[in-house]
Amino acid sequence: MYDFTKKIKVYSPASVANVVCGFDTFGFAVHDIYDELVMRLIPKREIIITNKDNYNLPTEPEKNVLGVALLALLEEVKGDIGFEIESNKLIKPGSGIGSSAASAGGVIVGANYLLGKPFTQKQLIEFAMAGEALASGSKHADNIAPCICGGFTIVRTHDPLDVISIDAPPMFVTIVHPQIEVKTSDARNMLPTEIPFKKAIQQWGNIAAMVAGLMKGDYELISRSMQDVLVEPIRQKLIPGYAEFQKIGHEEQAIGGGISGSGPSMFMLSKEVETAKRIEQRAIELYSSLGLPFHTFVTTLNKEGVRVEEM
Ligand code: HSE
Repeated sequence: MYDFTKKIKVYSPASVANVVCGFDTFGFAVHDIYDELVMRLIPKREIIITNKDNYNLPTEPEKNVLGVALLALLEEVKGDIGFEIESNKLIKPGSGIGSSAASAGGVIVGANYLLGKPFTQKQLIEFAMAGEALASGSKHADNIAPCICGGFTIVRTHDPLDVISIDAPPMFVTIVHPQIEVKTSDARNMLPTEIPFKKAIQQWGNIAAMVAGLMKGDYELISRSMQDVLVEPIRQKLIPGYAEFQKIGHEEQAIGGGISGSGPSMFMLSKEVETAKRIEQRAIELYSSLGLPFHTFVTTLNKEGVRVEEM
């Protein structure tokens, strides 16, 4: 019933989580930055992982994001069935643009394809969340959901999982990745366990208005709503050049931007590609002057999410 000769190539996109005010809630997938996986089914209950990159990630399934996600999926699959995976990570681990989510989301969509698509999108996100939890120490889905579903997503709750997709208006995304290490677990541990009521009101005003702005395609409203009074004021000290990058976005009249996920990458949304490219150029000048190695990208929202091709 299964085709053990079928080989697939999976393209799994990077994503930006939080999107300033929606901590653990908002996320969007992007084009041009993705991981590649080659996968096939094998007729034994085993997960065989081979790395095709130089990151030396562990290949034991229990210690690898791909493996842990697949183990969660295999709990729902009977019989002698397993997977062989070649992983080529093109999204640097720890970059803040959803590298672990790309692994977990990509491998789960690929596995579902090879098995004849028995699972719902919600189940796929849940399996992938197990992999994400291994990487970041917490079971959040704000990178996984856009990676799998594409576009801009809202994770209303994690337990039970409730994900809503929004049809966001066209936007260009400038991403700058200063090559420093920010561990998601550290960036989460520094956050308060309680927040003052006044700040909560400001935050939910911005979150609600941002959803309205996205749904109406109202760039001005999106821009006004991209403010975070809870997380970025605390995390910004982890990222050299944060304030300067925000200033550049402001001067270039970007829609808005901030830390991508838990950093160290940052992102800026623009209405026009020229603006996004000017911001990139100024970010290059900024990080060159700071003497930090960095990468920059200009891309767009990816509405498709993980893509599978038969080989
Ligand atoms: N929402 C998460 C965080 C994304 O900011 O900690 C990082 O994976």
